[in-house]
Amino acid sequence: MPHPQPAPTPLGLRGPAFGGDYNPEQWPEEVWHEDVRLMREAGVTMVSVGIFSWALLEPEPGRYDFGWLDRLLDLLHVNGVRVDLGTPTVAPPAWFYRAHPDALPLTADGVRYAFGSRGAICHSSPAYRQAAAGITEQLARRYGTHPALAMWHVHNEYGVPVSACYCDTCAAHFRRWLAARHGTVEAVNEAWGTAFWGQRYHTLDEIQPPRATPTVGNPAQRLDYARFADATMRENFTAERDILHRLAPGVPVTTNFMTALSQCESVDYWAWGREVDLVTNDHYLITDGRRTHVNLAMAADLTRSVAGGAPWLLLEHSAGGVNWQPRNPAKLPGEMARNSLAHVARGSEGAMFFQWRQSRRGAEKFHSAMVPQAGTDSRVWREVSALGADLGRLEGIRGTRTVADVAMLWDWQSWWAQRLEWRPSEDHDARERADTFYAALYDHHLTVDFAHPDADLSAYPLVVVPALYLATEETGRNLRRYVEGGGTLVVSYFSGIVDADDAVHPGPYPGALRDVLGLTVEEFSPLLDGHTVRLTTPEGAPEGPDLTGDVWSDVVVPRGAETLWTYADGLPAGRPAITRNRLGEGTAWYVSTRLSGPDLDTVLGRALADAGVTPRTGLAHDVEVVRRTGETGTYLFAINHTDAPAGVRLDAPGTELLTGQGVVEELTVPAGAVRVVRLDG
Ligand code: GLA
Ligand code: ZN
Repeated sequence: MPHPQPAPTPLGLRGPAFGGDYNPEQWPEEVWHEDVRLMREAGVTMVSVGIFSWALLEPEPGRYDFGWLDRLLDLLHVNGVRVDLGTPTVAPPAWFYRAHPDALPLTADGVRYAFGSRGAICHSSPAYRQAAAGITEQLARRYGTHPALAMWHVHNEYGVPVSACYCDTCAAHFRRWLAARHGTVEAVNEAWGTAFWGQRYHTLDEIQPPRATPTVGNPAQRLDYARFADATMRENFTAERDILHRLAPGVPVTTNFMTALSQCESVDYWAWGREVDLVTNDHYLITDGRRTHVNLAMAADLTRSVAGGAPWLLLEHSAGGVNWQPRNPAKLPGEMARNSLAHVARGSEGAMFFQWRQSRRGAEKFHSAMVPQAGTDSRVWREVSALGADLGRLEGIRGTRTVADVAMLWDWQSWWAQRLEWRPSEDHDARERADTFYAALYDHHLTVDFAHPDADLSAYPLVVVPALYLATEETGRNLRRYVEGGGTLVVSYFSGIVDADDAVHPGPYPGALRDVLGLTVEEFSPLLDGHTVRLTTPEGAPEGPDLTGDVWSDVVVPRGAETLWTYADGLPAGRPAITRNRLGEGTAWYVSTRLSGPDLDTVLGRALADAGVTPRTGLAHDVEVVRRTGETGTYLFAINHTDAPAGVRLDAPGTELLTGQGVVEELTVPAGAVRVVRLDG
């Protein structure tokens, strides 16, 4: 739900932020002068500096060298470039590890990581905490009132490359965390179900982190450890944030999230979103054959939702290819601008990159940059400069909010539980369900908000629950209230199964959702690899096409719900496969098998009709239309991901801001282009 106050924005920025991570310590100072000249040429308004600079800023414990950073900030300031200043606590210097080797994280397998990369941190280490607080305090004192300072960038991407450490310091910290969460050892035994497999503890001191075990480790212990690791990183973030707030009051503090990246699911961004002043996100296209622009839209929608609907900022994406995937294609002409403006459409107050000038040495020299190895006589540079100019034309969007049509539930804690081993089928992937449902909504040209399962959902006509394995009784009541109040809920299989301790709710599945769905599930019947089930509409139900499911089926016992499709084969043959429960003013759908493509569309289309949602028609596939609205007006973003021109009907005339042309009824978006119309009235 929206924050009551407008989110703080980077200080001193008028229009959208445009720039990137700037790591000038890689270059002689002459190059810095060339850099700022080019920044002005491209319309750069802000850069992120100092994120990995600890070893240069504090060459020996307690001895600081701020000279170069002073000169850099002054240079940026006189050139009108604002600074997002990093606390370098993701990269402690070599001397620190030499003095404190046990601050290096230990893996669950007992491997101690070494110095020589970045992000090798045991977040429980008192030595690390003290050193991080020390350098943060120095930076806050020295630069807290520097005129170039726009905001603080704490650490870098908490949760990667390491989220949990399994060392003895963490073990002791975990026991304290357990005592605070559960109270007594008896309560831990109960929560973890240690009566099974002889795991009972007699004192808290016997408890260790879930290190490597010969076979599957206790799932509730692992779930608690995931919570503990997340909370421990958050303790370190808030400690730095509080120092910055105290010594530099009024300067917004952020840390860059990676909301939708499956590699970064160890961070519960619902909790983190409440701790930062301004939500920022990093997003990279995953080029494994999936539709990258759909994944991008999802990441942007999720980031906005973590920000409570308020504007946020894309702090990193790439000008071209990355270098950490198996294959790293360059972005095609126009793709970078589409990516950037798609983030802006979905609430970002600008577009920033990793990184400004491409490295010649080190791990990321083959990662694209705003200034490529090829220099400025290059397509990438020309596109970067053009984007800077385009963003400059969008000053008015500042502070406006993206308008969503429907919502999807999302819960990192449920992912943590669901990802554990020994589940009914390894083919069921909760993230796949979220991606697939999201893509189906995207293809209906609907904008999606994400919501925590306990959030107030009453503003949304339709809420999709792709796979919510862990759902508390409170969540069950929340969803029931939502439906009774007139909402339409669509729930996918293997939802509502366990409580917060990964314990199956008592009684038949799906314990937390039986009421709202009006059914019970007597048995799961996962399918073998490559097997499918056929679904048909039974007599008396509205007619519909036959559908095909795979991966999963359930033996559903209706208890009030009507059956819309039944299984024609498989173990549950003749039983309900897709049901609808009318409850109060609303309806709750249950889809007990995995549907994809047109089959999922058929069911979703019916649910959307129940919800009274009329998807935009007359718009070509892969043409994205999103609105932002606020005090300065309503802005319609139209992004054409196809290679043919696309028409977009407008409900009001307006002015297209990138070309400066007036538009009346129909906007034409050239192939691969973006248009932003400020609607009149
Ligand atoms: C992350 C990091 C950056 C850089 C990029 C490369 O987002 O924050 O420092 O490594 O990835 O894609
Ligand atoms: Zn540790």
